[in-house]
Amino acid sequence: MKKILVTGGAGYIGSHTIIELVKSGYFPIIIDNLCNSSINNIHGIEKIIGKEFRWHNIDCTDKLKMQKIFLEECDIEAVIHFAAYKSVEESVNKPKKYHDNNVGSLNVVLECMKDKNIQNIIFSSSCTVYGMPDILPVEESAPFKKAESPYGETKQICEKILLSNPCNSISLRYFNPIGSYSSALIGDCSADKASNLVPIITETVIGRRKEITVFGDDYNTSDGTCIRDYIHVVDLAKSHVSALEFILNQSGKHVFNIGTGNGVSVLEAIKTFEKANNLKVNYSIGKRRSGDIEKIYADTKLAKQKLDWEPKKTLKDAMISAWNWEKMKE
Ligand code: NAD
Ligand code: WQD
Repeated sequence: MKKILVTGGAGYIGSHTIIELVKSGYFPIIIDNLCNSSINNIHGIEKIIGKEFRWHNIDCTDKLKMQKIFLEECDIEAVIHFAAYKSVEESVNKPKKYHDNNVGSLNVVLECMKDKNIQNIIFSSSCTVYGMPDILPVEESAPFKKAESPYGETKQICEKILLSNPCNSISLRYFNPIGSYSSALIGDCSADKASNLVPIITETVIGRRKEITVFGDDYNTSDGTCIRDYIHVVDLAKSHVSALEFILNQSGKHVFNIGTGNGVSVLEAIKTFEKANNLKVNYSIGKRRSGDIEKIYADTKLAKQKLDWEPKKTLKDAMISAWNWEKMKE
């Protein structure tokens, strides 16, 4: 069984990826200090896979501790590096915290890989590197625009670091991951206050918020609200298995968009949630949110061609699973 080291594997996307790795016959080992997740996700993974697995509670920016793990864990074939802070809002107030953790952890991982002659890394990047693209759907070759936030800047810096490092790398640029595993045993356990659309919808419906404000309906889109590319987290998780199979057989530097290719407006997302779960979402139209991109969705041709990966789940599936996760958290 091929051993894969997964930093941030207890987090939202990481935990779903661990399940897919195990299902595909890999042997994942997690490094996560739970700074933005919960032990519940570790227990959830164990329940789903039906066995214990190796997990190191370590900060990825701690070079000495990381070197020790890399020494202990022999024959690692590749690293999947999820560990990072992800709150756009917090990054505006604490840019150094974001730079130190997001860029710092990648640098430590790369140094440890070099020491142990590990060649392959898959990196969690984001569509945020594109800013507001000139052409839609956005292709991987589109230029980086000025980052909208210090968080976005860390993703741009990390991708550049990978290009200048001798290792084989794949940067996966995720669009908007939503939903959860069908059993709702794992999910987003962020300590951050929810700021993404779907968790805010579910928090509103469960009664933790009075209503959701739709940030602007005067954009140049079909119904005036912003367009995004929402992808089911299970499909996103599977893209890592495809990326792994690719990088273990092909050297070099690669970048792939991981989205559905479908642009969905905020109002369409709310209506899909309502219909999928037979529930009403209390919303009102408010002002635009500063820094919001009007529309962005992925060109997914490259991932389909090279990784033989494409999303299988619908927006409705994602909305049902998002609601199941919210109820499970209660
Ligand atoms: P998450 O916060 O749920 O997961 C990140 C995990 O990394 C957490 O479990 C956290 O405890 C851990 N971690 C953070 N810093 C660490 C450190 N220094 N040492 C050890 N563990 C550490 O976030 P997520 O949504 O699962 O995102 C995973 C990756 O994907 C991140 O790099 C994020 O920037 C990127 N990404 C996320 C989204 C999204 O909308 N969720 C979109 C694009 C890209
Ligand atoms: C989606 C749409 C909002 C909340 C974030 C990060 C980005 C990347 C993806 C990590 C927008 C609207 C939202 C609300 C609303 N993540 N909305 N009312 O804007 O694509 O970006 O996730 O890399 O870096 O910034 O996602 O979920 O915040 O918003 O109307 O209460 O929902 O305006 O149009 P976004 P989001």
